[in-house]
Parts: sequence; structure tokens; C-alpha cells
Amino acid sequence: MKYYNLKKNEQVVSFSTAVRTGLGDNQGLFFPKKIEPLGDIESLLSLPTKERNFKILSNFVSENLSQEQLTKVLDKTFAFPSKLVAVGEQNYCLELFHGPTLAFKDFGATFMATCLQEFSDGEKITILTATSGDTGAAVAQAFYGIENIEVVILYPKGKISVLQEKMFTTLGGNIRTLTINGTFDDCQKLVKQSFDDQELVKSIGLNSANSINISRLLAQVCYYFDAIAQLYKKGLPKDKRDNVVISVPSGNFGNLTAGVIAKLLGAPIKRFIATTNANDTVPRYLVSGKWEPKTTIATISNSMDVSEPNNWPRIEYMMESGQFKQDDLSGYSATENETKASLKELKTKGYISEPHASVAYFGLNQSLQNDEIGIFLGTAHPAKFKGSVDEILGMDLPLPPELEACVNKSILSKNIDTDFSQLKDYLLSI
Ligand SMILES: Cc1ncc(COP(=O)(O)O)c(C=O)c1O
Repeated sequence: MKYYNLKKNEQVVSFSTAVRTGLGDNQGLFFPKKIEPLGDIESLLSLPTKERNFKILSNFVSENLSQEQLTKVLDKTFAFPSKLVAVGEQNYCLELFHGPTLAFKDFGATFMATCLQEFSDGEKITILTATSGDTGAAVAQAFYGIENIEVVILYPKGKISVLQEKMFTTLGGNIRTLTINGTFDDCQKLVKQSFDDQELVKSIGLNSANSINISRLLAQVCYYFDAIAQLYKKGLPKDKRDNVVISVPSGNFGNLTAGVIAKLLGAPIKRFIATTNANDTVPRYLVSGKWEPKTTIATISNSMDVSEPNNWPRIEYMMESGQFKQDDLSGYSATENETKASLKELKTKGYISEPHASVAYFGLNQSLQNDEIGIFLGTAHPAKFKGSVDEILGMDLPLPPELEACVNKSILSKNIDTDFSQLKDYLLSI
């Protein structure tokens, strides 16, 4: 499979180049040249997870990874499960937070880190990443201690949960963290500006572990198939099999991009719901056709506080090229009160969740028809948002060991302004 630059179609690269460079010329995103349906989906779904994941991904990476290498990469990436949990009669949560940093980002970050290790030629690489909360921890964990790789993580000062912050700012070693006096969108702009500076790119071997890196999304494609496979195992009647609807809590729209790729590959998903918080650029765009990002608003689902989602061009490309119908996507946005009410409703159904999944559950509730089966994605462990969850649900959530281990450690971050020259000086000083 070749990958081409969505902004400069004549730039066509291999998987390894797409992973190693992150972003193409003119800040263009790389995207697979041709996504073909996988064929016998019933048999694919009945395979053990690792075998199934191998079949899903091999066409995307076979030019650069041997079967043995891909098996090794997948063993590390899928060392932890995704779990489909029933919530009431018609709904399920796909829990994606059973990895080392308790968020769905563990799948993509681990896949990317292990692929890069396979492609390493010993040259120094600097991974520059912006985080709205969970990417930071997943990337830090996936790259911690890897030789020849320096990681620099930017995040908006005071806009992520304390526990999220502790998970990636306390490691030290090859993981460096910078708080930015601005929003997550400002952090993303700084990352993109860095890629525009060719001198910087060359001198520090710049790469990004944000979901602009296509490798991050490929691993995520697999868990959409896994969700359906688990649903079938639970005995989903045949007449419901074409009626599965998935609500994706969306910020940068990487997760939804992966879901749409899964659908194009043949995953039996009827339609998607993209649910955001008040940062609702996409839900508004789906109705009006006008792309009008507003100033980013801080919410309790802070990892989705994004008003200019990086991955939207990939979804738009799949729609414009006729591969994915816009009718198969609807958008909703939840207010803070709706997010809190949904979290409380989930509790009455015996399910303790957190604000991001609760936003997705809200979207499902707005749109699900009686003959449909709904899945909302559980993107983070509730304890990562202990502050909000305890307050809204009136409880005292216990901390899992992964959080307990870092809660009393000191934050090692440095602070800089939203100023590219400050960032550049820092990067050159490493
Ligand atoms: C907990 C959580 N939910 C949802 C999202 C949004 O995912 P995406 O950026 O792929 O749309 C994020 C992303 O940071 C997240 O950390």
C-alpha cells in the first residue's frame, strides 16, 4: 500500500516514510491510496483477535514490515484488550482504556512506537506532540526509554486534568514536557509550524506522534472490527447485524477516521455519530456546510476541547471521493449539563463512566432508533477524570495502580508562551 499527500497528490510515499515523516509537504496529511473491502467478513470476525488484526493491517504495511515484524508489532500493540460491556438493553460501551495509560490512545501510540523501532536506522529522531490530555501519557509510555528517540510533549497550561498531567510529566529521561500559555489548538499550530521549518526538521529529525501520523490511526481500525466480533459472540440476532450504530466522542477526529476506514474495509457498521462537546465545529459543518471554527471553549471533557480538528480532511476526503456517504454520519454536541446528566443516567444503569464517553452516550441517545444497536466508545478510564466524576456522581472513585504510581510524583514541565521561536530554541537545545 502506498500513501499519498492529501494536499499534494503527487507526493506518494511508502508506509515507513509516512510513519517516519509524520506530515507531508505543505502540511498535507498522508492517506492510504486505495482502501479495498476485505472480502469474507463473517470469517474475519470469527478469527482470534490477533489473527484478525494481522489480516486487517497486513495490506497497509506489507511493503515495509515482514510477516514476522508485523506479528511482533501487533503482539505489543494488542497486549491489552478492548472490552464490549452491555449498558442497558440496546447499548454497549466499547471500553478502550485497559492499556498502560488507561486511554484508547495506547493502541495507536504503541503501534507507532514499535513500527518506528522496526524502521530505525540508528539516527536520532525527535517526536514532537501536542496533547489535549491523553495522547501525552500514551506517547510518553510508548516511547519511554527508547534509544535515539527524544520526545517533546506540548500541552495547554491548566487545561488538562491533574491526573492526566501526572501520567506523562513525571517520567523524565527521554520524555520532556512543555506547558503552553494557550489552548490545545495553539499547541497543534506550534507542532505544524515546526514541520514547516525545514532547517529544524532536518537538524533534529522531527516527527510527530499526533494522529496526523497515519500509523496512530491504523491500529485503531482493528478495534472497530473487534467490537462487532464481540457483539456477534454475545449472540446479536442476525436481523440486527446490519443495524449497528457507533457514537464516537470526537476532538481531533482521529478515532472517527479509523472507524470510517474500518467501514470501508467492510466492518458491518450501519452509520456513525460524531459527538463533540461545546467545541462543535464539525456538527455545525455537517448541517450548514460551512467550516466556521470558534474560539476553543474549556469543558469537563477536556480532551475534546478542539475547534480545528486535524483529521477532518481525511474524513472529508473519504466523503468527497464517494467512498463514504455523508448520510452515514450525523453530528451532535453535548452541553456541560447534558454531559453531566448522561453520566448520571449511565450510573442509574449500573455503569460508571467519565465525561468523554458520556458525551458519546448523549449522541447515541439523540439518534438511536428502536431497531438499532448502539455502541459508544469508552475512551478513558473514569479515574483519569476522578475530579469531575466524583463531583458529578457524588462518589470517591478508587485510583487504579497506574495512576496511584504517579500521583505523588513531581511535575517536571517547563512553561513557554505560544511563540514558535521559544519552542524552536528549546528543541535545538536538546
Ligand atoms: C478521552 C478521550 N476521548 C476522546 C478523544 C477524542 O479523540 P479524537 O481526537 O481521536 O477525536 C480524546 C482525544 O484526545 C480523548 O483523550
